[in-house]
Amino acid sequence: MTPSDVKATLSFSDGSPSMELPIYKGSVGPDVIDIRKLYGQTGKFTYDPGFLSTASCNSTITYIDGDKGELLYRGYPIEQLATNCDFLETCYLLLNGELPDATQKTDFVNRVSNHTMVNEQMQFFLRGFRRDAHPMAVMTGLVGALSAFYHDSTDINNPEHRQVAAIRLIAKMPTLVAMAYKYSIGQPFIYPKNDLSYTENFMRMMFATPCADYKVNDVLVRAMDRIFILHADHEQNASTSTVRLCGSSGTNPFAAIAAGVACLWGPAHGGANEAALNMLEEIQRKGGVEKIGEFIAEVKDKNSATKLMGFGHRVYKNYDPRAKLMRETCHEVLNELGLQNDPLFKLAMALEKIALEDDYFVSRKLYPNVDFYSGIVQRAIGIPVQLFTAIFALARTVGWIAQLNEMIGDPEYKIGRPRQLFVGAEKRDVKPIGQR
Ligand code: CMC
Repeated sequence: MTPSDVKATLSFSDGSPSMELPIYKGSVGPDVIDIRKLYGQTGKFTYDPGFLSTASCNSTITYIDGDKGELLYRGYPIEQLATNCDFLETCYLLLNGELPDATQKTDFVNRVSNHTMVNEQMQFFLRGFRRDAHPMAVMTGLVGALSAFYHDSTDINNPEHRQVAAIRLIAKMPTLVAMAYKYSIGQPFIYPKNDLSYTENFMRMMFATPCADYKVNDVLVRAMDRIFILHADHEQNASTSTVRLCGSSGTNPFAAIAAGVACLWGPAHGGANEAALNMLEEIQRKGGVEKIGEFIAEVKDKNSATKLMGFGHRVYKNYDPRAKLMRETCHEVLNELGLQNDPLFKLAMALEKIALEDDYFVSRKLYPNVDFYSGIVQRAIGIPVQLFTAIFALARTVGWIAQLNEMIGDPEYKIGRPRQLFVGAEKRDVKPIGQR
């Protein structure tokens, strides 16, 4: 970290001594005030629920400028990666810091391909779930269970174990997601086929059956691959911070990633694409485009908890750059499948237009986020709504691992242990039960 010449001074109105705090400069983005000695010197904590002003780590992986609507993986703009690279090149970049050359790419693809199968016992574990279980419930269980199957890659402090675990997780997530899907619809599992690309392989495991193979459609494969690229990492979001915090105790990589899957499930995070599609279906059921006005009025009502799902972002207060790319893909996919007149798509476009012009959304800088469009694309491809977040988890796995490995390699890393402002009961005595 580069120290800045500027220092911050913290002073108190009660005459307690003031404190000088160092400031560090990032390569881009806001500087940080180092408060590590604050408690030791003043006996006070900082208070920042939701981490609105807190940098929890230093990182070299992903940079977001929310005001400019910019997203960079290792310095490369997401637009260039989404246009010029495939998902496995993006994985290599996130894990290693540089894009692969042709030989490195071939090696990496081969390594990942060698690990696409899961231990045969995993399917018996999966068969214990109810068939109607939510795929994210299944994925939380399956990813955590990998630690029970791959004992040779569970030591988070061993760089070789971390490397093998990373490859295994990236390689096996598509297999697990497809298995969870096949199980839910009562179809036999389709084993991976390693002469296909990562994304073709995933789509084949999803849609082929023993009676009919999957016909690769390049537009759809490219769309799915782009979904993976756009979701691969996103700085210190809730699930990534969860993975870091979980991993900071020294737990194994599979357990830490399972914690990320659990966090991602929530509707304010990865569950938003499912929630956005459910919202569209609900408006459609109530009467479609004609009912948009009523729905928007409900969203704006202070007494209602209804939100326009797929809109708004904690960091992007201008435009989500991923949304722009996904919007483009959305049009490509719907054209390819002849679905331009699909009522749900028309409804989504009408909703997008109204929200972009409405002062409530404009004044709060609420724009469509990636999930607004990725849901429509996935539905068009034939992916059931319930599986959307599991696909997000598949894509985000590489980001989680890259961030976890970065943390373990950081000499300043410690077990995460936030403090609190305690406002509960002061010390008191327990009375015998008859006197309470
Ligand atoms: N619909 C209606 N009002 C909204 C929405 C929305 N989607 N999002 C924020 N607002 C309002 C909010 O009520 C508040 O209004 P007021 O100032 O009158 O109280 C104002 O906008 C600021 O909202 P906030 O809650 O302070 O914003 P936040 O940064 O804490 O929340 C968010 C960010 C993503 C949780 C929120 O915008 C949201 O819940 N959006 C819908 C869910 C969604 O699409 N999430 C996916 C995020 S992208 C995927 C990912 O990266 O994980």
